[in-house]
Amino acid sequence: MKHLSKLPNIETTIFTVMSGLANKYEAINLSQGFPNFKSDQKLIDFVSKAMNSGYNQYALMGGNMELREAIAKKFDLLYESTYHPETEITITAGATQAIFDVITAFVRANDEVIIIKPAYDCYEPSVLINGGKPVSIQLEAPNYQINWIDVKQKLSSKTKMIIINTPHNPSGTIFSEADMLQLQELTKNTNIIVLSDEVYEHIVFDGEKHQSACLFPDLKTRSFITASFGKTFHNTGWKMGYCCAPKVLMEEFRKIHQFNVFSVNHPVQKGLADYMQDSNTYLELSQFYQKKRDLFLSLIQGSRFKFKPSQGTYFQVLDYSEITQEYDVDYAKRLTVENGLASIPLSVFNENKLDNKVLRFCFAKTDDTLKKAADILNKI
Ligand SMILES: Cc1ncc(COP(=O)(O)O)c(C=O)c1O
Repeated sequence: MKHLSKLPNIETTIFTVMSGLANKYEAINLSQGFPNFKSDQKLIDFVSKAMNSGYNQYALMGGNMELREAIAKKFDLLYESTYHPETEITITAGATQAIFDVITAFVRANDEVIIIKPAYDCYEPSVLINGGKPVSIQLEAPNYQINWIDVKQKLSSKTKMIIINTPHNPSGTIFSEADMLQLQELTKNTNIIVLSDEVYEHIVFDGEKHQSACLFPDLKTRSFITASFGKTFHNTGWKMGYCCAPKVLMEEFRKIHQFNVFSVNHPVQKGLADYMQDSNTYLELSQFYQKKRDLFLSLIQGSRFKFKPSQGTYFQVLDYSEITQEYDVDYAKRLTVENGLASIPLSVFNENKLDNKVLRFCFAKTDDTLKKAADILNKI
């Protein structure tokens, strides 16, 4: 059978490639972004209880109401921002599904979507499959600061959406309040939708504050915020997330959501709702991961890798330019095969595969795993 691919240039993701290599060579896997420790037993018990208490049929299309209420309460507590549980919050199968539905609900053929590179890998294919045109803004290593003049220059009458991600995967940088104000100013009086991917909102270090799109009144009116329970509660395999937006935008989102998935895992939703009644479950996350970041960085202080401490997320980028000038994909593979440590080369997230000799390491791992990884890095 002959067919024309709708996404001819999309290959198997680097995450699959590197995890596959890590398994094959029994390497320590700091490549894919998932913890190698268990979720809180309390959460697992809440989910089991929900399954045993009859929460096994379809949830409401927008999601279990108690969970939506818990999320609304969290927005109020953290940002003094109101999202109505009934009309402005939807529970999704991970942030990935939310992102796909936001893009599908709004992007038409030839619409332009601004994507800031390095970028998480699901944005661009979702734009392309809808006939949209990705317009890239490349950030420069090692600071990965956004130049808003660049963004302004790339705006056009065709710009439908801007996708931002703070804290940022893969660089581990965060947007400042000034960044968000610039974005608000640039989009004022336009019909541009902002997709604010905030999956790492609870992982921000050194006392900094997460700058959610909902904190900026004009920005909030045009923004979808996407979030991931997998990242927050150490269970990426459950694929649970949510998104929030003002009612008029959410109405359009749900037109896609109801035919894409209709509703998502009900007992997990109920379990999450019960678990989130205790706000410490998410408030303590930054401290938890800051300890891991600090441990990892203190251990590799004397290595030949150069770094700026991650400001958020559970990723740390390391510059290997003093060690070799190899292409980063080749070096990441060699590090896995020869040294037994898997990472992700940053070029795969960049425009035109720009190679700055930088690898991304995930430190959502047990202290023991981090120590073993550091031992390898120190010997190079
Ligand atoms: C920036 C970013 N957005 C979205 C996702 C996807 O989240 P989920 O696993 O909840 O679909 C990830 C996962 O790595 C991510 O890093």
